[in-house]
Amino acid sequence: MQTSNPLTSTETGDRSLLKQRLRIDRLVGDTERQDTEPVFGSDVIEGLTRHPKTLSPKYFYDDRGSLLFEKICELPEYYPTRTETAILREYAPEIARLTGPCELVELGSGSSTKTRILLDAYQSLGYPLRYLPIDISGGILESSAYELMEDYPSLQVHGMVATYELALQNLEPAPLPTRAIGFLGSTLGNMTPPECDRFFSQITGALLPREYFLLGIDLHKSTPVLEAAYNDAQEVTAAFNLNMLRHLNRKFEGNFDIKEFEHLAFYNLEDHQIEMHLRSMRSQTVELKKLGLTVDFAAGETIRTEISRKFDLDAMRDYLNSKGLTPVQSWTDPQNWFGLILCQSSAN
Ligand code: AVJ
Repeated sequence: MQTSNPLTSTETGDRSLLKQRLRIDRLVGDTERQDTEPVFGSDVIEGLTRHPKTLSPKYFYDDRGSLLFEKICELPEYYPTRTETAILREYAPEIARLTGPCELVELGSGSSTKTRILLDAYQSLGYPLRYLPIDISGGILESSAYELMEDYPSLQVHGMVATYELALQNLEPAPLPTRAIGFLGSTLGNMTPPECDRFFSQITGALLPREYFLLGIDLHKSTPVLEAAYNDAQEVTAAFNLNMLRHLNRKFEGNFDIKEFEHLAFYNLEDHQIEMHLRSMRSQTVELKKLGLTVDFAAGETIRTEISRKFDLDAMRDYLNSKGLTPVQSWTDPQNWFGLILCQSSAN
């Protein structure tokens, strides 16, 4: 007589049913899929050979980094996630009424926690539920997709493991009357002004006239509040920052010695941005074999791994307008710490 492990068979049984509502396109690599990336690591070479040295924040988000980021979101000092979530809780029903039935696209979906608030609002109105998560971290995208489908029995998920640029270039027309692209969590703050300009061309290029864009941005506030959010007492942010070096070691056969670097985060008041750096604690040489790259560090030299810009809500509305995205409505919390703007692509 054949017996099977009941746990395993239930799990696979459930998954194969759920799978019918899931499609995942993998446009770029996890570590093992580097061959699919046309310009593998060229940005790393560029960033580590210039002065000051920089690395793209996208390298935070291997699966471990995404989990560390989830932990950051729960830290007492890290107010953005909590504040944005509160705004969404209060106004998601209004957002759903404004857009009507629509496909929800989310850039940098991560664990899709905030998505649930929006899905709940669309569900309450009896709208069909379609979700298109886009994330560079395939592991978290897939596990979140399954959890969502379990909790929303009518939800269809079409995920894309991709950079924003690649995903936006490859969006197919929405099967619902309209589409809303959500860009929450103030991830926009990671982009320099020229990068923002390029990003918004990609957004308006991907949206049909009158489709929606929902943006979450972190707003100006006092330096102590900002600096505490990126220097938490439990040092999760430090671990998150340093994890980038492990990721590079794995991805590019590097030999960064994590113990020889330290986390640094401060508010740059002129540019209204938090800067995160990794500081070399001594003079050292690092090799990234797969890139044929050797990098010298002076003692105290830093790599800037992230900027996190803080914005002014009115200025952002004007900026969006200038980019062909007409603000429909915006919301904030009682302290004006975080802003949410819904806009609509103007016809062109
Ligand atoms: C996800 C880019 C918005 O800038 O606050 C959190 C990332 N870095 N702690 C941010 C982050 C350090 C976060 N964003």
